[in-house]
Amino acid sequence: MDKFRIRGGKPLKGRVTISGAKNSALPCMAAAILTSEDITLHNLPYVRDIITMRRLLEDIGAHVLTPELRTHKISAAHIELQAAPYDLVKTMRASVLALGPLIARFGKARVSLPGGCAIGARPIDLHLAGLTKMGAEVFLEAGDVIARAPEDGLKGAEISFEKISVTGTENLMMAATLAHGRTVINNAAREPEVKDLAELLNKMGARVRGAGTPTIQIEGVEGLSGAQHTIIPDRIETGTFIVAAAITNGELEIKDCNPEHCNRIIGKLREVGVEIEEVNQSTLHARRGPRGLHAGDLRTEPYPAFPTDMQAQYMALMTQATGHSVITETVFENRYMHASELQRMGARIQVSHDKAIVDGPGKLIGARVQASDLRASASLVLAGLVADGETTIERVYHIDRGYEKIETKLKAVGADIERIRESVTAPLSSARDDAATA
Ligand code: EPZ
Repeated sequence: MDKFRIRGGKPLKGRVTISGAKNSALPCMAAAILTSEDITLHNLPYVRDIITMRRLLEDIGAHVLTPELRTHKISAAHIELQAAPYDLVKTMRASVLALGPLIARFGKARVSLPGGCAIGARPIDLHLAGLTKMGAEVFLEAGDVIARAPEDGLKGAEISFEKISVTGTENLMMAATLAHGRTVINNAAREPEVKDLAELLNKMGARVRGAGTPTIQIEGVEGLSGAQHTIIPDRIETGTFIVAAAITNGELEIKDCNPEHCNRIIGKLREVGVEIEEVNQSTLHARRGPRGLHAGDLRTEPYPAFPTDMQAQYMALMTQATGHSVITETVFENRYMHASELQRMGARIQVSHDKAIVDGPGKLIGARVQASDLRASASLVLAGLVADGETTIERVYHIDRGYEKIETKLKAVGADIERIRESVTAPLSSARDDAATA
C-alpha cells in the first residue's frame, strides 16, 4: 500500500486548481442508469471512487467511454444485471446510489447492504423506507437488499426524512423521476451536490423542483433521455487547500472553485484568523492573517452549515491556533479517528463522545501515522506539512479515493512530499492507462 513521506515546515505558495466534486460525480454517474441514451459527464475528478463507480456500471452491463481523462460517456442501453455486488459496495458505500435508478427503470434491484465504515454504522434504512413508501417491496436476502417495484411501477409519495441524508435524498430523487405521479421529499439534504444531480436529471427530461431547499418535488415522467453535464467543483477539496495555506503560513491562489458553495467554510476559517479573498466567481486567495490563528469552537451540521467532511482538516488547523477549540461532530458517530494520530504527532486533543477539545498552539513532530478514512487522511497530510521533521502516512489509498493527485498539487506549490509506491496496490496511473485506452 502506498505511503506519503512529508517533510514539514515549508510555507505553500502558488496556484492550485480544484477538481470536480466526487460527491456530485458519483450520483450523476449512477443517474445514467435511468436512460438508454448516452450521458456525458465532464470535469470528473480523477480519483479512485470514480474508477470504482465506473467498474460498477460496467459490471451491470453499461458501456463507459473515456474520450479524455475527466470525461465519461456512459451508455446504459444494455443493462443485464440489476445488482451492485458486495465486493464493490464494501469498498465504496456510494454504490448504493445504483438502487434508486435500477428500481425506477427496471422495477427491481439487488444491492449489497453496505457495511459500516471507519466513521460510523452508516445504515441505509431511510433510503429503503422511502422506496417502500413509493410502493416497492424491500427485503433482505443473504446480506443483499432486494427491492421490487409493483407491476405497474413505483408511485409518487410524500416522504419525510427523520434525519437528513445526502445519498438518501439523491437515491429517492432518482427513483421518483420515473414514478407515477408526484413525489415530495421533506427534510431533504440541501448540499450543492444534490442540486447538481437535479440539474442533470432535469437536462434528461425529469421534472425536479426545489433541489437545494428542504422540500423537493418530483413529477414522474414516462422516460428520460441522454444529456451532457459538467460536474461542480469540489468544495471540500477547496476547503482543504485553504487550510493548507493557513496551516503552513503560506499563500495560495485557488482556481476553478465555487466560493458560493463554501460560505460557511470560508466564514468559519475567517473567524479563526485565515485571510480569504474571493477574487472572482471561481477563484479564492487564502493565507494566514497577520494576527495569526486563534481558537474557534465548531459544530458540524448538514449544508448550509459547516460540513462534517471538513471537520478533520479544521482540527489539524486548530492544533496551530492559540486557545481551546471545542469541536462537536453531529453527523457521524465516530469521526475522530484522526485525533489519535494527531496526538501521536504531539497535538493536545481530548476526545469525549461527540466532542473533541483542541488545546493549541502546539508544535507537531513528524511521525509514522496511519490513514483511516478519506478526510482523516487529509488532516494527517495537513499536519505533516507543518510538523517538524518527517511524517510518513500509511494507507494513502484512503486519500486517493477523494483527492485527485494531492501530492502533485502540493508539490507544485512547494510542499516537500513524495509518494512511496508499494507494489501491492495497482498504482492509479495504471487506471489512467486503462482510461486512456477505453
Ligand atoms: C454523504 O454520505 C457523503 N458521501 C459523505 O462524504 C458525507 O460525509 C455525508 O454525505 C454527510 O454530508 C457522498 O455523497 C458519496 P448521509 P451519506 O446519508 O449520504 C445517517 C466523504 O468524505 N443515516 O447524509 O452516506 C448516517 O449514518 C464522504 O466524501 C441513517 O441513519 O451520508 C449519518 O449519521 C464521507 N440512515 C447521517 O445519517 C440512512 O438511511 C448522514 O448520513 C442514511 C443515513
